Amino acid sequence: MEHTSEAPEAVGGPRTVPDVFDPRLYAAGIPHDRFRVLRDHHPVARQEEYELLGWPAGPGFWAVTRHADVVRVLKDAAGFSSYLGATQIRDPDPADLPFIRRMMLNQDPPHHGRLRRLVSRAFTPGRIERFAATARLRARQLLDAARESGPEVDLVRAVTDDYALLNLTDLLGVPASDRGLLHSWTERVIAYQDPDEPPVLDAAGRPVNPRSPARLAEMFAYARELAAHKRARPADDIMTTLATGELRDAELEMFFFLLTVAGNDTVRSAAPGGLLALAEHPDDRRALWSGDIGMDTSVDELLRVHPPVLSFRRTATRDTRLAGVPIAAGDKVVVFHPSANHDERVFADPHRLDLARTPNPHVSFGDGPHVCLGAHFARLQLRILYEEVRASCAGLEVTGPPRRLVSNFINGIKSLPVRLEPYAPRG
Ligand code: HEM
Repeated sequence: MEHTSEAPEAVGGPRTVPDVFDPRLYAAGIPHDRFRVLRDHHPVARQEEYELLGWPAGPGFWAVTRHADVVRVLKDAAGFSSYLGATQIRDPDPADLPFIRRMMLNQDPPHHGRLRRLVSRAFTPGRIERFAATARLRARQLLDAARESGPEVDLVRAVTDDYALLNLTDLLGVPASDRGLLHSWTERVIAYQDPDEPPVLDAAGRPVNPRSPARLAEMFAYARELAAHKRARPADDIMTTLATGELRDAELEMFFFLLTVAGNDTVRSAAPGGLLALAEHPDDRRALWSGDIGMDTSVDELLRVHPPVLSFRRTATRDTRLAGVPIAAGDKVVVFHPSANHDERVFADPHRLDLARTPNPHVSFGDGPHVCLGAHFARLQLRILYEEVRASCAGLEVTGPPRRLVSNFINGIKSLPVRLEPYAPRG
């Protein structure tokens, strides 16, 4: 099955500005037809932020959809701030802003640089590479168990959710008994727009922002305890490096939260997304299985067509113009990664899966000062998982429609029913 894009007229023609805010849209897959109209006719488009799913209306924002403009916004931290209104489409409660701004993700240079330098030290390539053997063994065990449970499995439940979570908890140094806690915390933050995760309401019946201090207190208390444990019993993991370094306690807790969310749900999305694309393109999969196409370019191409992150927000610091459109200081500016990754101005035949695509300047890991700190670790996990699927399954066949997350932030896949075809026995 090829990815297809409908003609612009299918969503109202060039004059109509398609809505790409509604989180429910993404439960049906990336709305490529809408993004195409935006890129071609409204590359910086006004979006309404109407009341939705119990969440109040917001002031609206600019949707940025062309690759060049997305890169410009992400690189120009002086013009488009991560600090002023933080990085989510929905405005945080002003009372929560000082708290949210403690996170490196929601800071601008030069302050951001201090934290980024301190935590980068924990992400040494050597440490990441040392996790390769554990990740491989884990992928193998999960795939073996999945195949034994029957030829048809939900790949998300049987393999990819645990694979992402367990790799991250290993890297962080979270004891095995506490891994379920991390899973429920990320679910709370990421799936808050999804009907499977009903919102927690305050006394007035309004949903409580999952990123507010009240909702995160338990996770922060855990981070403090874990740090104390690592100081007492140091190990070769990220929490030990962070707990014994220069980070202040409050920074360390925030960083634990950032890693728990940024490092789990993204790989949890990328892994089934990549395998779904391979199952849908059997000729390309066969070329990868036979070695005609290399794994490294494949990992990046699969991330291009299935970007785990759908959007990130910035706030304009001054009056400016973007693609000729006047933007006022204080306006919300939101970049859409899947749209940039399918921009015809940069990618030849962007809706074609081309596992050998080079160069491949996709923006799935972002760009500029906040470019993903875990990209190396993420690519390594994905490469190993695909290699192990290749080693153990002759083919993959989708046996039912995937269920996708209702979210305009994470391109999540909640279930993916597949048949894992075994290799014919030798002899
Ligand atoms: C395929 C998987 C992943 C994708 C697609 C992804 C994507 C991204 C993106 C788009 C950003 C930029 C945010 C912005 O522009 O404001 C980011 C930042 C970040 N990512 Fe990832 N990520 C992935 C995996 C990981 C992993 C495994 C970790 C850690 C273990 C991680 C840690 C971080 C951190 C700490 C930041 C913040 C960097 C900063 O603010 O300077 N990510 N990621």
